[in-house]
Amino acid sequence: MIKTIKMGLIGLGGMGKTHLKNMADIEGLEVTAVCDADSKRMDSFQGARFTNSSELINSGKVDAVLIATPHYFHTSVSIEALQKGLHVLVEKPIAAHIYDAKKMLEAHKDKNLVFAAMFNLRTDPMYRKLKNMVDNNELGKIVRVNWIITNWFRTYAYYTSGSWRATWKGEGGGVLLNQCAHNLDIIQWIAGQPCKVTANIGLGKYHDIEVEDEVTALLEYSGGATGVFITSTGEAPGTNRLEIAAEKGKVVLEDRKMKFVRNEIEMSEYSKTAKDMFGMPPSSEAIELDFTNGNGEQHVGIIKNFRDAILGKAELIAPVEEGIRSLELGNAMLLSGILKEPVEIPLDSGFFYSEFNKLIKSSAFLKR
Ligand SMILES: NC(=O)c1ccc[n+]([C@@H]2O[C@H](COP(=O)([O-])OP(=O)(O)OC[C@H]3O[C@@H](n4cnc5c(N)ncnc54)[C@H](O)[C@@H]3O)[C@@H](O)[C@H]2O)c1
Repeated sequence: MIKTIKMGLIGLGGMGKTHLKNMADIEGLEVTAVCDADSKRMDSFQGARFTNSSELINSGKVDAVLIATPHYFHTSVSIEALQKGLHVLVEKPIAAHIYDAKKMLEAHKDKNLVFAAMFNLRTDPMYRKLKNMVDNNELGKIVRVNWIITNWFRTYAYYTSGSWRATWKGEGGGVLLNQCAHNLDIIQWIAGQPCKVTANIGLGKYHDIEVEDEVTALLEYSGGATGVFITSTGEAPGTNRLEIAAEKGKVVLEDRKMKFVRNEIEMSEYSKTAKDMFGMPPSSEAIELDFTNGNGEQHVGIIKNFRDAILGKAELIAPVEEGIRSLELGNAMLLSGILKEPVEIPLDSGFFYSEFNKLIKSSAFLKR
């Protein structure tokens, strides 16, 4: 039985460096090896250093790896690590597209190996509260989900900070894949996966990039609910407002406050039975919860949960099997925006892959 998990950290850029710092304070695991394609990024690390992830994986120095490379490498590195019997925690998005993500799931044959995704927003008490309310049927049947998440503003300097960023070939997408991986995960975690999306996307609308930096998507759910998902990296000041309308009331999350108005009679029942032609279902006073004091353990929480799952002490907060859904949703929006037509979910990953490759092949974009 492992007592201290020997961790290998692959990718020591912005996110990887934060993980390294965080893991120094987490009990029960020790970073024994790191890997970055750029050796200078590992200068200050005292343990084993590799510039090639295969060497780290085969070094015998680690029980588990945390992968924080650009997205495309998530696939090859996690598959190799699983095949070598290592536990894997992979950054979001779990892959650049659903075609690669499926290969990762297929490689997860040994279910004793923990395969987790860094969906740190799942540790946020505000989203956990909303998920509990939905799971406990406090809201009743959901009829509409709206998320305006336009506070992902990014400058052009951000996009030039890595040559891989914001290119079809290097990153595989834009705001849907990178920033919104979190929001797409939360929206499907709480409200389920839509069965159809119709999206309007802006490719390089606000920045000199080739991928999407604005999206407005209509969501349709099999139970009849609809939704709208709006995002942008070009809008300031942006908005982060998630609203769920359901039979038993309405919840709004904005500015880290939750406002819930409860219908005392389900709205469809009231609509059918009320005699007053302009009546409204009787409702509670607005219940307000304030989450401005903290947003939970975030990355640290996911790493601790990964450790505990390896030790057999906890269920995973974000298994990779669930991480594929946000990717599928984002890929469906991208495909819909490119084809200018509705796209059904489950997404045909082979079709997506062939359309996606057309974007790569036709790219004549030269990044400044
Ligand atoms: N969970 C979050 O909140 C969060 C936040 C930021 C980034 N991320 C994710 O982390 C990943 C990395 O993002 P970043 O912002 O740190 O990027 P970055 O460009 O700052 O760092 C990437 C690092 O990976 C290294 N690298 C590239 N290819 C490699 C390979 N094949 N093997 C080993 N090292 C390699 C690069 O040299 C670089 O140091 C992305 O997938 C991103 O989506 C997650």
